Amino acid sequence: MAKRYLNREWRNSMRIRLDYNNMMSEFVGEKEGFTLKMINSERSNALRALERIKNSRGKGWLGWMDLPFNQADIVKDINETAKKIRKTAKNFVVLGIGGSALGPIAVFQALCHLHYNDLPNKVRKGPKFYVEDNVDPERMKALLDVINVEETVFNVITKSGATSETMTQYLIIYDLLKQKLGDKAKDHIIATTSSNAGNLIKLAKSEDFKTFYIPDGVGGRFSELCPVGLLPAAVLGIDIAEMLAGAAYMDKLCMNDSFYKNPALVNATLQYIAMKNGKNISVMMPYADGLKFIADWYCQLWAESLGKEVDNDGKVVNAGQTPVKSLGVTDQHSQVQLYTEGPFDKVITFLAVDKYREEVVISDGCHDIPDVHFLCGHTMNELIDAERSATEYALTVKERLNHTIYLPEINAFTIGELLYFFEMETAFAGELLNVNTYNQPGVENGKNATYALLGRKGYEAKKAELNSAPAKKTEFTC
Ligand code: PA5
Repeated sequence: MAKRYLNREWRNSMRIRLDYNNMMSEFVGEKEGFTLKMINSERSNALRALERIKNSRGKGWLGWMDLPFNQADIVKDINETAKKIRKTAKNFVVLGIGGSALGPIAVFQALCHLHYNDLPNKVRKGPKFYVEDNVDPERMKALLDVINVEETVFNVITKSGATSETMTQYLIIYDLLKQKLGDKAKDHIIATTSSNAGNLIKLAKSEDFKTFYIPDGVGGRFSELCPVGLLPAAVLGIDIAEMLAGAAYMDKLCMNDSFYKNPALVNATLQYIAMKNGKNISVMMPYADGLKFIADWYCQLWAESLGKEVDNDGKVVNAGQTPVKSLGVTDQHSQVQLYTEGPFDKVITFLAVDKYREEVVISDGCHDIPDVHFLCGHTMNELIDAERSATEYALTVKERLNHTIYLPEINAFTIGELLYFFEMETAFAGELLNVNTYNQPGVENGKNATYALLGRKGYEAKKAELNSAPAKKTEFTC
C-alpha cells in the first residue's frame, strides 16, 4: 500500500502551525506584549544561531539532526524485530529513565488507544506495554504482579549503560528470567545502548542480547527518534517511517533562513525574549489526552537542556525557564486560576488539535434544565475546542503571554513533526542563551552522589564529601 507521507499534498495538509498572536502587544497589551521591533532586534542573533547549528549539523551532539535521514537499515531491523515480538510476546516492558523513557511514554500515549492495555488481545494485536522509569520497590512488585516474565520482552534502554536505576531493574529482571528460563532468558532482553561505552554493551555482548545502538551524537533527551523510541513504537504497531518523515518535514521548515518562516526559530526567539523579561515559567498545556505526556517529554527537554549555571564563556548565568505540565481542560479547574491572575512570570503554550480521531455527540436530555440542556446536540469536540478558545481569551484579556501550536490531527507524521519542532526550538534557545544544551552536570552530580552512597568503587572522595556535609538538626524537623 502506498505510504501517505510520500504524497506532498498530504504532507502539506499535516503541517503543524504556530500562532503567536497572543505574544504580541496588539493582542495582549503593551505592558506584557512584544512588538515587531523587539523581535526584529533579536533577529540577526537568532539567524546566527541557525547558521551555527547548520554548520555543526550531524557533528558533536547534533547527531540527532541526522536521525530523520540516516536510519533506513535500522528501521528495517527494528520493524522485523517488532514483528516477531508482536507475534510472540504478551508484554513489552521498557526499563529506562529520563530520555530513555519519556519519549516512548509520550509516543505510546499519543498514538495508541488511550486504554490500550485494557483492550482485548484480538483488538490490540500486540503485547501490552509498560514503561518502568522509577526504582520504587512497590512499582516493581506491582509490575511483577501483572506480568509473567516468561511471556515478556524487556527492552533495557540506557545510553550511558551505567545508570543505576536502569541497571537495578535489569539485575532484578534478568535474575528472574534466568530462574524461570535458564539459557533462554537472553531471548527476553533487548539492549538499546551506546555501541562503545558503559556496561550494558559489555553485558549485551557477553550474554548475546539482541542490541540496538544509540548513536554517539544523540543525547538522552534528543533520542526519541533513534532506536530508543523507534523500537517501542514499532512494537506498538506505529508506522515509524511515517514518524521520521514528519521529523524530516519539520527539519526543512526549521532550516529556513527566512526568520519569520522558521517556526522553531521564531518560537525560540519569543521564549528567549520572554526569559529576558522575567518569564521564568513555560507552561505546556495540550488540549488532548493523547498529548498529555508530550508535555512531560517537553519538560525534560526544556529543563535539562537550558537549566544551566554557567554559559559557554564560563560566566554564571543560572539560565533556564521552569517547564510546567498542564492538561486542557482538566487543569482549567486547578491551575488556570493562577495563570490568569497570579504573577506575570509565565508563557503558556497551548497544543491544539484541528481534527480529533473520534467525534462524540452530547446526548439529548435534561429538557427542563436549560443550563444543562444547552450542551445537547453539540459534540465533545466542539466543547473541548470552545474551552480552549475561552481559556486563550481569558488569559489574553488578562495580558498573559500565550501561543498555540496546532496539529491538524494526531498521527505518526504530526508527532514526528512536533517532537522535532521542540528539539529544534530547544537547540535554538540554547544557542540564544549561549549555554551548553547537551550536558547535564546537575544530573551527573546527583548520579555520582548515589554511587557514593551505595559504595561504588572510585567514588570514595564523593562519599567523604557527602559525609562531611553538616548533620541535620532535630530542631528543624517537627
Ligand atoms: O537527557 C539525558 O541525557 C538524561 O536525562 C538521560 O536520558 C537519563 O539520565 C538516563 O540516562 P541513560 O540513558 O544513560 O541511562
